[in-house]
Amino acid sequence: MHELDRTESVASEAAVLVRVVLPQHRFFTDPLEELAGLAETVGATSVGQLVQRREKPDNRTYLGRGKVAELQTLVAAKDADVILFDNDLSPAQTRNLETATGVKVLDRTELILDVFASRAQTHEARLAVELAQLEYSLPRLKRMWTHLSRMKMGIGMRGPGEKQLEVDRRLVERRIHDLRAELKRIERRKERQVSGRRDHMTVSLVGYTNAGKSTLMNALTSAGVKSEDQLFATLDTRTRRWQLPHWGPVLLSDTVGFIRDLPHKLIASFKATLEEARQADLLLHVADASTAAAYDQISAVYSVLSELGIEAKGALLVLNKVDCLSNRAPLDAILNRYPNAIPISARSGQGLDQLAAAVSAALSRTFRDVDVETGVENGKLMAYLAAHGEILSRRFSGDRVVLHCRLPQKYLGRIEKNDAEVREHYSHERASSSGQPATSEDEDPVIHDDVA
Ligand code: GTP
Repeated sequence: MHELDRTESVASEAAVLVRVVLPQHRFFTDPLEELAGLAETVGATSVGQLVQRREKPDNRTYLGRGKVAELQTLVAAKDADVILFDNDLSPAQTRNLETATGVKVLDRTELILDVFASRAQTHEARLAVELAQLEYSLPRLKRMWTHLSRMKMGIGMRGPGEKQLEVDRRLVERRIHDLRAELKRIERRKERQVSGRRDHMTVSLVGYTNAGKSTLMNALTSAGVKSEDQLFATLDTRTRRWQLPHWGPVLLSDTVGFIRDLPHKLIASFKATLEEARQADLLLHVADASTAAAYDQISAVYSVLSELGIEAKGALLVLNKVDCLSNRAPLDAILNRYPNAIPISARSGQGLDQLAAAVSAALSRTFRDVDVETGVENGKLMAYLAAHGEILSRRFSGDRVVLHCRLPQKYLGRIEKNDAEVREHYSHERASSSGQPATSEDEDPVIHDDVA
């Protein structure tokens, strides 16, 4: 089975890059820039490029007939091993192009899947990529076998018989079935794991691939990570503790990088990986402000988020890599459109204080002013309140106590389950209904500084 997957890897191969630009494609930059970046990521070397503008794709070969001839010449002249196509091709179009040029053709989805395969670090990410690869390859199975036979036996040899193909298809289908089941199990476990972290404020980094999420994650968390810090030892490597200045610790999660027109199958497979983002209290959308494609990338991320059903309305936009800008004009243009965005450089540390302040402010907006009434002996609840918010004052009345607290909204439900009553805090109403103002002697402000 693995032999089949590997036929799609293009590491260390000489590649010709091709793109058909259709009327609906807007490009601020070189139309092949992103494809060149993807090719480099998987280790292929670009030896030639070809761009064609068309009203619509050709049914048989996507490119027009004249361009196919040009492509043939280019492939032969450059002795290329593979053609990387920045559009999605039907299995028939791929086959026809391969027949015409005599080399392997990978379309955009296959290339992205290869990029993800080369980057997948966790067990779950590897399974997700394998599933997406197999699902994509199923209708293309014949072609893959043709490759194998061509490579092993030379062009012109017969491909595998239909019987072999059928056996193989069944093997792939069984593997797809097993992978789906395994990913479902992981997804359920992940849901439990992530919701178990509800006791902490969580911030998730999302963004276009290469925007600098991991670099930012390191910049924000490395200072706060100590060797004795065992608190989150059981979490996966992509979630770390961030000591947010003037606030306390929050959990910061990195997520898989997005890309324009991310293959749908891949999005579906990565649901478990994106669970953190779905349940986060705040999303930080990291964008590369130094690329001319910044706008395209920002809107691509918003559309992938909405495809995933992730609410991006409150996301904080972070404009990274400002150290690469030789003048402010491009940054000002982006800020004009997104006035609340925060310019930073994860590499130099510039703007990280402003980012921390903005994150604190955004998280504060999720706080509510409430009165929590409970029995005076309910020490467990009081400790919980002190750890997760601020207790601004206490008023005792017999064996009951009313605690005026500022707390994140998400903890309120849990508090109510702990033998307590939660009410909106109205200071005037309270003063008049009790017949006397709250006394300042009772006040005992507790500022939380740890979640332990
Ligand atoms: P994916 O894993 O693909 O999603 O990428 P990512 O968003 O995690 O990006 P990563 O942190 O790996 O950074 C991508 C590249 O940008 C690396 O070469 C970083 O060194 C570089 N980079 C990140 N932040 C900055 C920055 O502030 N300035 C400059 N000049 N380069 C940066």
